[in-house]
Amino acid sequence: MAIRETPTQFEAFLSEALPPLGLSPAAHRRRNIRRRLMRRMEGLGIHEFPRYLEYLRRTPEESEILRSLLPVTISRFFRNGKVFDVLAREVLPDLVRKGTTVNVWSAGCASGEEPYTLRIVWEELPGKKPPLFLLATDIDSVSLARAQEGIYGDSSLREVPAALLGRYFARQGEDFRIRGDLKEAVRFRRHDLLSGRPPGRFDLILCRNAAFTYFGPQGQLTVAHFLASALHQSGFLVLGRTERLPVAALSLFDPVHPGEKIYRLRGERPREDTG
Ligand SMILES: C[S@@+](CC[C@H](N)C(=O)[O-])C[C@H]1O[C@@H](n2cnc3c(N)ncnc32)[C@H](O)[C@@H]1O
Repeated sequence: MAIRETPTQFEAFLSEALPPLGLSPAAHRRRNIRRRLMRRMEGLGIHEFPRYLEYLRRTPEESEILRSLLPVTISRFFRNGKVFDVLAREVLPDLVRKGTTVNVWSAGCASGEEPYTLRIVWEELPGKKPPLFLLATDIDSVSLARAQEGIYGDSSLREVPAALLGRYFARQGEDFRIRGDLKEAVRFRRHDLLSGRPPGRFDLILCRNAAFTYFGPQGQLTVAHFLASALHQSGFLVLGRTERLPVAALSLFDPVHPGEKIYRLRGERPREDTG
């Protein structure tokens, strides 16, 4: 039997089901998410969103299944490329000058496009550099497996400057494979941003187009505090171009490059190294 569903029912479902998961209904009004949910409902023999909502309410373990159907994992190399210019020109040289290991966390890294981009930018910095520890985390295991495979189609690479494409990627049929040493230079881990911070402290965190787009107000605030607690003193935080920090978290950070959403942790913090 076909699913009887209208956009209004889908939206009403999101409004009821997503806030308890800490997620924003508006950010998830997407055709591919509706398709994923309808496939799940079909599998359960449920034909309407209101019935799926009832099922969700009486079946607590369905929440985790629903959560696994919601991540939006679109990414690309050099996404909103200007921010990487600013990082290369102003932020990374500042961290290099410390002379000790630079610790970076790409939080919500999708299939690795963002951390690999950062690694490429790092490789391109002139002069002698200390080691770079680059942690990349995501909640979605399928995306992490793709990241570790390191094979990308044209659409992920359309913003990569031609010279860098030749230097860091090799053709593989229709696709491109990222250079092996870059793959080894990024540590991928599964991590839920709402569960706390990973061990250690970071000099720079990229948390772009993830928590501050897809989470609800409480989730965003929680993550802002986790990110602050994961930074070294005066550490840098980068959000997505269209994102902003929750008002209640503004006092934690100073904007250092508002156009590119680059912030710095405010206040004193004892030093503690990433393990
Ligand atoms: C749209 S992608 C952004 C990827 C990359 N940061 C960028 O800007 O291109 C959002 C990513 O956030 C991840 N994500 C969503 N909820 C998460 C959570 N609770 N913990 C960790 N990652 C999460 C998704 O799986 C997805 O890969």
